Amino acid sequence: MTFTAKLHSGPLASAAYPVLVVPAFEDEKLTAEIRDLDRIWKGAVSSFLKTEVLRKEGEVCILPSALGKGIQRVAFVGMGRRDESDLETVRQAAGNAANALRKRDISRVAFLAEPFVPPDGDLESTASALIEGARLGSYSFDRFKSEKDTHVLTSAELHLPKTADTREMAHVIDEVLTLTTSTLLVRDWDNTPSNLATPTHLAQLAKDVAKEAGLSVKILEQSDCEKLGMGAFLGVARGSNEPLRFIVLDYKPKKYSRTLCMVGKAITFDSGGISIKPALDMHIMKGDMGGGVAVIATMRAVGTLKPDGARIVGIVPACENMPSGRAQKPGDVVRTQSGKSIEVINTDAEGRLILADGIEYARREFEPDALIDVATLTGACVIALGEGVAGFWTDEEDLAELMYEASKDTGEKVWPMPLVKEYREHLKSDVADTKNVGKKEGGAIAAALFLQKFVGDTPWLHLDIAGPFWTKENQPYIPIGATGFGPRLLYRFITGWLEAED
Ligand code: BES
Ligand code: ZN
Ligand code: ZN
Repeated sequence: MTFTAKLHSGPLASAAYPVLVVPAFEDEKLTAEIRDLDRIWKGAVSSFLKTEVLRKEGEVCILPSALGKGIQRVAFVGMGRRDESDLETVRQAAGNAANALRKRDISRVAFLAEPFVPPDGDLESTASALIEGARLGSYSFDRFKSEKDTHVLTSAELHLPKTADTREMAHVIDEVLTLTTSTLLVRDWDNTPSNLATPTHLAQLAKDVAKEAGLSVKILEQSDCEKLGMGAFLGVARGSNEPLRFIVLDYKPKKYSRTLCMVGKAITFDSGGISIKPALDMHIMKGDMGGGVAVIATMRAVGTLKPDGARIVGIVPACENMPSGRAQKPGDVVRTQSGKSIEVINTDAEGRLILADGIEYARREFEPDALIDVATLTGACVIALGEGVAGFWTDEEDLAELMYEASKDTGEKVWPMPLVKEYREHLKSDVADTKNVGKKEGGAIAAALFLQKFVGDTPWLHLDIAGPFWTKENQPYIPIGATGFGPRLLYRFITGWLEAED
């Protein structure tokens, strides 16, 4: 679906919009811009605001114009207290407003940008947050519905002050359109069931993305992985009739001084394998490819926006985790490409197995200066941090700082978690170099410690997105289902990393 963003400035008196969205703060009278509008509308705005209680966060109230020309409606969106507002409040308000308006068959929304700027924000980041919230908030997944959702938002526009830096603003808009497209790509793929989103489909997606964004792409098949000795990845895939794919997307500018690799888990369906999962909510495991798709979608943004100075590589082992007569069994021992052997105690701890081979491949082929893995890895992480927050693990303070900053900028929540050395003990195997599970308590930490065995001395950060890749409740700019978590955070992390000195 095409979606456009447009910028306007100039006097409000001569502006024409089907609807102009303005913020209503609990603790604030009209701002200068809204007073302006009030004058044009001959006091209708202020008298409306006196009668209506609509300043609570999330509320949307529409006032039609009596003038019959220019701005046809003003939509007030409740913002809560101004001193408590931040960019996330702006994103949420834009999401609430856009969603309420599209359901009333309004396909074009305009925001009066300046009064939305939060105390610690600027016009550019606010503009970005408005477009982000509006576009992401009006998403609906109707691919399989006979009756399509016809309430489609086709554009978000911004009414800017005369002083706005139009070149900088155009760049911001470019970036936000690319990143929201990538986010929606992740939602679409994570929402798509496993009969239609197989490893083969994912490889085709990677090829399409490579073509569109100017990346090189390499797809390894089973025989290639056998030659490379990826025993852990092959072990997970062998229970399924769907052939595996190992996807590599490469952004290699002419001049670069550093390399960053992202490895994403793409289990297109996680039944648990022989250690089969309970039926409740098993269908959500169609989205167990969330890390891998986030990596592909981030690579799409990288290829499109072309940041300077580094080679960026996305590596995505993709397969199903199924029980069958050929499936790997608890107690099996597999050997990874790195040579380390793993005793597979629980076939449902499959993500770390495919990542072990993905990480080794990244290190061998690209000798990265930084390595991030992204995965819907553990239920334990969801227990620890809840559904809204991803956990991250790293020994590198600079990477931790960059991840945290990226999170604050994008509103995709993360929290640092410890690599508790003492728990390494729990991963000891009687028969192999390591087991694939530790204790149930601290299970997310055990998974991180397992992965750490494969990163050697490469600066590494592990991101467990098992919580935030999915939502069971509607959120202001995220409807029920796949959230599209990842590309916005990861892209911001990458640009932060590029800006940072070695
Ligand atoms: N894909 C799951 C983790 C998951 C759970 C993601 C819930 C999203 C929501 C993963 O492969 C898994 O099954 N992990 C096991 C590990 C255990 C067997 C050590 C888990 O978390 O139960
Ligand atoms: Zn599993
Ligand atoms: Zn899984």
